[in-house]
Amino acid sequence: MTDWNEHVERVLLSESEIKKTVQALARRIEEDYREKENIVLVGILKGSVTFLSDLMRELKLPAQIDFMRVSSYGDATTSSGNVNIILDINRKNLPAENLLIVEDIVDSGRTLKYLVTYLLNKGAKSVKTVTLLDKPERREVNFTPEYVGKRIENHFVIGYGLDYGEKYRNLPYVGVIKPEFI
Ligand code: PRP
Repeated sequence: MTDWNEHVERVLLSESEIKKTVQALARRIEEDYREKENIVLVGILKGSVTFLSDLMRELKLPAQIDFMRVSSYGDATTSSGNVNIILDINRKNLPAENLLIVEDIVDSGRTLKYLVTYLLNKGAKSVKTVTLLDKPERREVNFTPEYVGKRIENHFVIGYGLDYGEKYRNLPYVGVIKPEFI
């Protein structure tokens, strides 16, 4: 049986480091959203599910959750530059809602830049973004997330929701994939 742990060159963010990172992000978000009502965490499928699941349980805020799915990469590792909405939110009370988009990673920045504008145009009261990981050196558009767990260099990372060819998402930590598996 294949053990995906053996495909990992090194651990970039261990389970305990992830826990501390999520806690620190939650405290900052609580501080900023304390006075706000109608908070909705919008997870971008699929990569964000693990982070969203941990973040929502850590946040001491009355937040709802919702999901969107976009495609920009397919199975490839580089962005095609296109953002297509495959699954949209359908909310009755959007003009009263403060959306916080939850992502696993920001790379070119195209997905989140597009989604922030899209959701504001759709009528949300406010839209901010939180990402576990950020690769600022890969940025192709002018975009800065409000909340960043950890800035990383340009490694190809897997685990904790992040995939390579749809594999490795259920590894419980973030690691760098061994080059022979790319
Ligand atoms: C990844 C990630 C972001 C996007 C970031 O998703 O979850 O949504 O790419 O890249 P960008 O900043 O260059 O736009 P992906 O398209 O791989 O889908 P997945 O979440 O289903 O793995």
